[in-house]
Amino acid sequence: MLRSLRTIIASSKTRSSTNQPRRSGSSGSGGITRTGRRLGDRDKFFREAKAEGYVARSAFKLKEIQDKHKIIPPGGTVLDLGCHPGAWLQVACQSLGPKPKGGLVLGIDLQETEAPKQYCDDRVRIIQADATTLPLSFWDEHAPGGFHCVLSDMCHWTMGNSSDAFKSLQLARTAFIIAIGADSNSGDSGGVLKSGGNLVMKILQGEGTQEFAAELKVEFEKVAWVRPSATRKESKEVFLLGLKRRKKGIVDSC
Ligand SMILES: C[S@@+](CC[C@H](N)C(=O)[O-])C[C@H]1O[C@@H](n2cnc3c(N)ncnc32)[C@H](O)[C@@H]1O
Repeated sequence: MLRSLRTIIASSKTRSSTNQPRRSGSSGSGGITRTGRRLGDRDKFFREAKAEGYVARSAFKLKEIQDKHKIIPPGGTVLDLGCHPGAWLQVACQSLGPKPKGGLVLGIDLQETEAPKQYCDDRVRIIQADATTLPLSFWDEHAPGGFHCVLSDMCHWTMGNSSDAFKSLQLARTAFIIAIGADSNSGDSGGVLKSGGNLVMKILQGEGTQEFAAELKVEFEKVAWVRPSATRKESKEVFLLGLKRRKKGIVDSC
């Protein structure tokens, strides 16, 4: 089943280790990013992440969103699209509360990823796959009950031109479609996000972002934008949130 997918399911055993090249914005040392920033320029958030045992400074972005909007309920189920190297997995698992509360965090990434030891427990599962090509049967197998929260921090390599915003919007749209389902003719059952659930998507601001936010208003009771303090000043990154999904199948068109 699902032969087209290269899936590796890993329960949380060891800390993330990969030989993959790092993206611009990651924490490697030496070299210069495409935006001209020195990779050695380690800021306050990088240092804090290291001190607190997070695998990336991005942990503070999700923490800020969680603190403001309580998107992940205790003992809830979370889908983390673009989970490598695992900082959001750490924050998501922490947000579930103590283990007896239960819950699940399912991480998906193109890159092989292992759940970081710190803050992750066996409620974290990771599958190596391309989120843009997952068939509907994948969700029946891996998330039959759906999710309380869908997160997408997915991004491509940035080129420093308008194609960055366009590509990020495409990835956000992938997350949106996974969450709320494709059009009614596609035969899906309304996506993996439970009624009342929350969706978080990273977007690089540009053409089409406001129109996309307007689409969210149809599906969610509230739409919000968050630009976390851990986002670098020069970045166009912003997080678009759909809060409290309206009842599946009942859409308020105004
Ligand atoms: C900024 S990183 C995510 C960081 C992560 N949230 C964390 O805090 O550790 C973006 C990730 O998106 C992944 N990604 C990009 N396109 C993807 C796709 N189509 N399917 C799955 N993952 C994708 C990349 O491989 C990359 O690891």
